[in-house]
Amino acid sequence: MSIAPDDPRLRAAAAALASARSIVVLTGAGASAESGVPTFRDAMTGLWAKYDAHQLATPEAFARDPELVTRWYDWRRMLVLGCRPNPGHLALAALQARAASEGRSFTLLTQNVDRLHQAAGSTGVVELHGTILQWRCTKTGEVFEPPPRPFDSFPPRSPAGGLLRPCVVWFGEALPPEALDAAERAIAACDLFIAVGTSGVVYPAAGFAAQAGARGAVTVEINRDPTPLSDVVDICLRGTSGQILPRLAAMLGLTIAAPQNDNPPRQAGSPT
Ligand code: OAD
Repeated sequence: MSIAPDDPRLRAAAAALASARSIVVLTGAGASAESGVPTFRDAMTGLWAKYDAHQLATPEAFARDPELVTRWYDWRRMLVLGCRPNPGHLALAALQARAASEGRSFTLLTQNVDRLHQAAGSTGVVELHGTILQWRCTKTGEVFEPPPRPFDSFPPRSPAGGLLRPCVVWFGEALPPEALDAAERAIAACDLFIAVGTSGVVYPAAGFAAQAGARGAVTVEINRDPTPLSDVVDICLRGTSGQILPRLAAMLGLTIAAPQNDNPPRQAGSPT
């Protein structure tokens, strides 16, 4: 059941967005769901409903069967390249620009690997789990952005002959230290923290709301369903990110254009 447009919780969240000095937003797969990118844990439509994550998203799985793992990730890469930012992405980019124009800080942390935030115009996006649009050579470490077409052989190799792997964090791997450090610094300084479309079960991101709240920040969750964060945050906004974020932006006088369906799908090398 989505929150009503005149719900006082929406007004409270909009007031906090309009006045906060330092804003941190954390997004999860739910923020890209309305763009057509499958989430992980949705029982019927999530990626993990069909695949066992531990058969595909671990260094051991890659070592055991690099062809299976790289075929799966290339299928996801091509799916993501065919997707466009949704009104939730566009609203976050507009809210970030508004905050910047008023000299206020706005840091976007994402667990998503699809770069739809960047395609929507968000800047300085902290990619906690990397990106599926870049792949690196396991021999030299060199990073490539493959063209917007499927690899022509699997497992793909770099010119140096090493196996290519996606630049995403796998289960059991550490988050990129510079991303984690940026997240910790932003949370330490924020007075408003908003979690959007995340199930709140994968740490360290799942702990960010409590961390921000413990420091006195106002905490907000935007999610279609209840999560462990729903009982932690100050303001819980039930509904989809593609509906609630544009509504909050409109309450700040920002109009979010609906995405044009004739926009061409993204090309490699799109805004990162
Ligand atoms: P999940 O699939 O675990 O959770 C998605 C959340 O978004 C759920 O709470 C859904 O109810 C909610 N949701 C779905 N559609 C929505 C919509 N339109 N608007 C708002 N909310 C919606 O995805 P994450 O929380 O991002 O990590 O998962 C966290 C991490 O677990 C992922 O980054 C991935 C996975 O293992 C790695 O791959 C390292």
